Amino acid sequence: MKSKAILALLALSCCALVDADYQIGVGRADCTGPAAEIIFMGYAKLSQVGCGLHLRQFSRAFIVDDGENRAVFVSIDSLTMNHGVRRQVLKNLAALYNDTYTEKNLVLSGTHSHSTPGGFLMDLMLDIPCLGFVQESFDSLVDGITQSIINAHESMVEGKIFLTSGTLLDANINRSPASYLYNPDEERAKYDYDVDKEMVQLKFVRSSDNQPIGAINWFAVHPTSMNNTNCLVSSDNVGYASIQLEAYLNNGALPGTGEFVGAFASSNLGDVSPNTKGPICIDTGEECDFVTSTCNGEAKTCIAFGPGDNMVESTSIIAGKLLDKAKELFDQAEPEEVTGPVKYIHQYVDMPNEKATITLANGTEQEIQGCPPAMGYSFAGGTTDGPGEFDFAQGTITDNPFWDAVRNFVFPPTEEEIACHAPKPILVNTGGVDFPYSWQARIVTTQILLFGQVALIAVPGEFTTMSGRRLREAVQDTIISNGGPENTKPVLTGHSNVYTNYIATPEEYQLQRYEGGSTIYGPQTLNLYINKFKQLAAAMVKGETLDPGPTPHDFSSQLITLVFPAAADGTALGQNFGDCLQQPAESVSSGDTVVVKFAGGNPRHNSLLGSSYISVEKATGDDWVVVATDANWETRYLWKRTNSDTGENEVTIEWDVGETVEPGEYRIRHNGHYKTESGAINPYEGVTQSFTVA
Ligand SMILES: *[C@@H]1O[C@H](CO)[C@@H](O)[C@H](O)[C@H]1NC(C)=O
Ligand SMILES: *[C@@H]1O[C@H](CO)[C@@H](O)[C@H](O)[C@H]1NC(C)=O
Ligand SMILES: *[C@@H]1O[C@H](CO)[C@@H](O)[C@H](O)[C@H]1NC(C)=O
Repeated sequence: MKSKAILALLALSCCALVDADYQIGVGRADCTGPAAEIIFMGYAKLSQVGCGLHLRQFSRAFIVDDGENRAVFVSIDSLTMNHGVRRQVLKNLAALYNDTYTEKNLVLSGTHSHSTPGGFLMDLMLDIPCLGFVQESFDSLVDGITQSIINAHESMVEGKIFLTSGTLLDANINRSPASYLYNPDEERAKYDYDVDKEMVQLKFVRSSDNQPIGAINWFAVHPTSMNNTNCLVSSDNVGYASIQLEAYLNNGALPGTGEFVGAFASSNLGDVSPNTKGPICIDTGEECDFVTSTCNGEAKTCIAFGPGDNMVESTSIIAGKLLDKAKELFDQAEPEEVTGPVKYIHQYVDMPNEKATITLANGTEQEIQGCPPAMGYSFAGGTTDGPGEFDFAQGTITDNPFWDAVRNFVFPPTEEEIACHAPKPILVNTGGVDFPYSWQARIVTTQILLFGQVALIAVPGEFTTMSGRRLREAVQDTIISNGGPENTKPVLTGHSNVYTNYIATPEEYQLQRYEGGSTIYGPQTLNLYINKFKQLAAAMVKGETLDPGPTPHDFSSQLITLVFPAAADGTALGQNFGDCLQQPAESVSSGDTVVVKFAGGNPRHNSLLGSSYISVEKATGDDWVVVATDANWETRYLWKRTNSDTGENEVTIEWDVGETVEPGEYRIRHNGHYKTESGAINPYEGVTQSFTVA
């Protein structure tokens, strides 16, 4: 490669490399999962079953190449990632680009939306809440992620990267402040807040014309503005911020289209809630118990709300705050340029067997080791963003056959395991069982990508605020003390590559709230990660290679599920698929919601990746021009099976007519697929009569 030779030459003269531009590629693709009948992943609530779609899920990929090394960061509108998804994406990429993309230089990071279909995580414990493995969820993610990287790969141009950061208040609160207070006084005194308020932005600019082509924004907040009563697929607050940032920089292009790609990626959001009014007892209106987040001893009634009056409004408000801050950073007059080589390092780690020696505050050395994964009792209590439904302690019967199986399974922890996890009381000893296959990951990925002075620390789970601060500081110090950039900026990229629940500090762990109870490798989990990431950072900067670590087992052929394939569809006598059953009013105006209904098929037959179940069309000259799709905030696609004998479905489409909608003649189109008794899947479409927006 010519650019390689040039860079090698430049590298000979010490500082010339600093000014060389990068090769940069950005890409986006639709990865929306099955919008109906599949349980959403996040709240572990059996009744939160998909009933349609509000916002599509997208995968956003960013490739940076310095002429010698290339690394890829991908942010995905999904709860999290796992080994299986990454393995299949890499297989797909290898078929196209040989060994350009490997597990070493590719980070897949979930945004952590709790309103997307689950069942793709493979570790049984994580798929149980969704009744097992769901092939359709898995396939949509793999296809969309792969396509986003292809799109980025095919669009590589010479470019520059800029780094900015700023403070965003009023968009997040700590949902376990009692745990946070367990951290040492002198450590807490270093910070103004009990959550991180910093938004970090990387902005990608094409050299040839100085046009911005992409941005990644990291801000620590749970995408749980949409609560566990929502059944429409949604990318939640961060996803809506992305769509708006992209529309803003793509001259109002429809969601999922346009060159500029803007991500809002996850960070150390473990104990961070977007429900900024905080928790309240919904029955009495009083404050919840500070330590246990219960009302009269019950977790169910202690729920956090805000900042809006309902979840849709709250999602929009938080998204707006993220968007405004991102735009402000984007327009900053003198951003710091990212310069220096691209580096990366990766190692698989067997957490239960991971050991380290740490130095305590009083100077004493201590040997530490991980524990086999296990969940504590508080895990079943859930959080104030979505309280748990099951009270395992009192042994109530649940209506989830899988949970019942969990409870009835007897795999008691050993004395050693109990001691290892103490003071966590073990509820589910996931490390003690391998039947029918792994329940929770034992092998995790640890990985760092370095773009010049920016270190992306890819962590396999949800770090709490203080855990994230400690890890960032450790990596930053290690990079600098080993001769890396003096201005190293560490960024924690959450939910990367594989999911291992929470990582609380050892002090927070003592209180055993939800985050501590879900810190699955025991009280020293964070210290083991800090030790490991220091090794990674040092080796990366010094150009040393690490042994790859143990390969995680591929159990994709053993997966079990209680999720049945979508049934055949039918219509009422005399009707056809696509028939409009409820026409719009003849004339509407801004502020109205247009509601129409169609005889339709089950969206599970086809997620219409890159397309839409809805188009709102405006008559323009002789043409109908699409002004909104199902990925727009203003539209909702709702699906309901109305007769399980005949397979009849009712598709409802809603369109909020916004202030900016131009007067004129409109109509609404619906696309979908239906399944015949013989199993064939056929497309259909329908369209309403036209109507006037006055
Ligand atoms: C793929 O990469 C390997 C290892 O770098 C190399 O030996 C092989 O020739 C490459 N194959 C193709 C088709 O480029
Ligand atoms: C979810 O939000 C709705 C308002 O949008 C509210 O009525 C409901 O109580 C909330 N439920 C939970 C469990 O947070
Ligand atoms: C240091 O602190 C640890 C943990 O608090 C304690 O177990 C140990 O005895 C202390 N060592 C000394 C020398 O004070």
